[in-house]
Amino acid sequence: MPPAIWSETYRVGHADMDHHHRKLVDDLAAIQQAVIGNGASPAILDLLDDWLDQFARHAQLEERLMERLSLPLAVEHRDAHVTEHVAFLHQAMEIRNAIAQGEDMAKALDSLGAQLIAFDMIRRDFELIGLLLHEGIAL
Ligand SMILES: [Fe+2]
Ligand SMILES: [Fe+2]
Repeated sequence: MPPAIWSETYRVGHADMDHHHRKLVDDLAAIQQAVIGNGASPAILDLLDDWLDQFARHAQLEERLMERLSLPLAVEHRDAHVTEHVAFLHQAMEIRNAIAQGEDMAKALDSLGAQLIAFDMIRRDFELIGLLLHEGIAL
């Protein structure tokens, strides 16, 4: 599977979220390229750790936005979305740790990128924007 590549169609219409998404996708693609040639160098682990921090900060931004939602459907969304952020971060940390142990995780990184786009950006984040607009909350 080729690395996940940014597409303008992924823009959800919230400037900070879009900026984060683009950087997450681009940086992950750069890490994937670096892993292919170099395995588990300390520099790659540093890049991965920065990426994990970046995702955690991104999830916090979205979770702050979700705190403003109040309708029952939106609260259901918030619970599911937060749970998925946590599960995704754990999965990413496991991949990072496997790379640190010297395992070949190039395929796992590919699927991580695909998941980032499919579950977070496309499924949950577009839904989040719709719910915010539905409750009249300015982006
Ligand atoms: Fe999200
Ligand atoms: Fe997101």
